[in-house]
Amino acid sequence: MTDETLDAETLRTRALTTLTTARDRTTLLTSCVDDPDLTAQHSPLMSPLVWDLAHIGNQEELWLLRAVAGREAMRPEIDGLYDAFEHPRSERPKLPLLPPAEARQYAAEVRGRVLDLLESTAFHGTRLTEAGFAFGMIAQHEQQHDETMLITHQLRKGPQALTAPDPDPAPLFTGPAEVLVPGGPFMMGTSTEPWALDNERPAHRREVAPFWIDTAPVTNEAYQEFIEDGGYRVDRWWSPAGWAHIREHSIDAPLFWRRDGDQWLRRRFGVTEVVPPDEPVVHVSWYEADAYARWAGRRLPTEAEWEKAARHDPTTDRSMRYPWGDADPGPEHANLGQRHLRPAPAGSYPEGESPLGVRQLIGDVWEWTASDFLPYPGFRAFPYKEYSEVFFGPEYKVLRGGSFAVDEVACRGTFRNWDYPIRRQIFSGFRTARSAEGV
Ligand code: AVJ
Ligand code: FE
Repeated sequence: MTDETLDAETLRTRALTTLTTARDRTTLLTSCVDDPDLTAQHSPLMSPLVWDLAHIGNQEELWLLRAVAGREAMRPEIDGLYDAFEHPRSERPKLPLLPPAEARQYAAEVRGRVLDLLESTAFHGTRLTEAGFAFGMIAQHEQQHDETMLITHQLRKGPQALTAPDPDPAPLFTGPAEVLVPGGPFMMGTSTEPWALDNERPAHRREVAPFWIDTAPVTNEAYQEFIEDGGYRVDRWWSPAGWAHIREHSIDAPLFWRRDGDQWLRRRFGVTEVVPPDEPVVHVSWYEADAYARWAGRRLPTEAEWEKAARHDPTTDRSMRYPWGDADPGPEHANLGQRHLRPAPAGSYPEGESPLGVRQLIGDVWEWTASDFLPYPGFRAFPYKEYSEVFFGPEYKVLRGGSFAVDEVACRGTFRNWDYPIRRQIFSGFRTARSAEGV
């Protein structure tokens, strides 16, 4: 075999493995509750789970069977139902959606044809098939919806439907609370990662002034100090829009928290528990993260600062794929893939730390950054404007690093997520930063 065929076989295996991993997760998330639960609206912020299921199949059909293989639509009449831009999430329960059995059947039929296609596709020739991009994009899409469905599970009332082992307890982290990242240029984004999405491209030089960044994400304990200090009652910590939002909606703690005497409880996948002090805080909005940072005399890192902390190796002056290097994530590096249904204690995963010693940049919680979601210089929408381009602008803030709920295929040092600054049903936390003087 030539190098080229070997490469194609490696890519084929990788595509097959990632598609299969995604489908196993989708199956679990849509079979652990009964049919009425799949079609119910658990929150106006979310689709019914059965919508995600058929939408996953529909996108797979659109991009692999139709765009790559040139096939006819299997069920042209359903395309509109599963077009995310035609119907807002809150209205989806009222649509004539495929019932659960039909949605499963449809997604399975698409998948069967895709696996045949995978056997016969050459991984070069067109931008869509180059290095198996479209297969990787569709595996990422399904995993993104698996995270979305896990959010729906978290919002769902009723008893626990999902379980997973807890992360290993970590010894109390006793290293420095913050790390100095020297100023200077680094390469942000990527032009070489084969399955990177359009908004991560192209690689480009960014100048970053020296800054300090938290070694680990902000913990529940630290966040509780902000609450106990009256953080939600003092307007000077808040942006004007953030202050107006928490006043209007009477927000005084992270989503899913409830005070019980002198302690805080939280609801997590159907179980109420004491908020664990050493875990990264999760389910906070950008406004809350921004206010906490101001209270702490600090600020959120910019997106460029976050990526430099996560990818730049000062010894080689190179940007790596991940904080620990170029190797794909393993369970020793990061808490990813819904292996655990919660973040790991702050300071966990020493093997996943960056060259400068920053921890848990990948996995555990999505980290809010100070930055708006904007295109990189030289951005080109691919393969469709509705993935990224239509969302660029100041209404969305960027989140980085991925949560415990996202699979490694949809998470890397360059991966960009975005949401409205009010959102907190997502698995969002943050770390803080401050500018440094001199080098
Ligand atoms: C990148 C997470 C913001 O869920 O809206 C799924 C991912 N895009 N289907 C979203 C996505 C199309 C997207 N986020
Ligand atoms: Fe989608």
